[in-house]
Amino acid sequence: MRRRGGRRDYYRPTNTADMEFDHAGIATDDLDGLADRYGTLFDASVAHEEEFDGLRVAFLDLGNGYLELLEPLPDADGAIPRYLDEHGPGIHHLALRTADIETALDAAREAGVDPVDEEPRPGAWGHDVAFLHPASTGGVLVEFVEH
Ligand code: CO
Repeated sequence: MRRRGGRRDYYRPTNTADMEFDHAGIATDDLDGLADRYGTLFDASVAHEEEFDGLRVAFLDLGNGYLELLEPLPDADGAIPRYLDEHGPGIHHLALRTADIETALDAAREAGVDPVDEEPRPGAWGHDVAFLHPASTGGVLVEFVEH
């Protein structure tokens, strides 16, 4: 097997969406405490913070990617409160960045992967996002994020 830069050729993507790792989404009931902990542990500072879709959201900058901390607002309903109830705090999803989310979704569909979101929708930090069904991706909830 020919290798380029230590990577096997057969791992090369077959689509043109140019995906890179962007962030891990982490469900927490203590965003401030976890941001402090990660700031100390990982030398990561908060690059962006907002309230979005019933959540407090903070992105910690790791230099080549982010940790997205997700804390439900009081009495909020939705995927993250349900995740915390069922699993407790932890990694909720992995996000891959692409400059062309439509192409990424088309490539996923061509590969037989079902999107949760058939069309991109507005996500945190002003970016369009789309999620894929974990049943198609090894049990991992995958987010495409365009920027
Ligand atoms: Co995310």
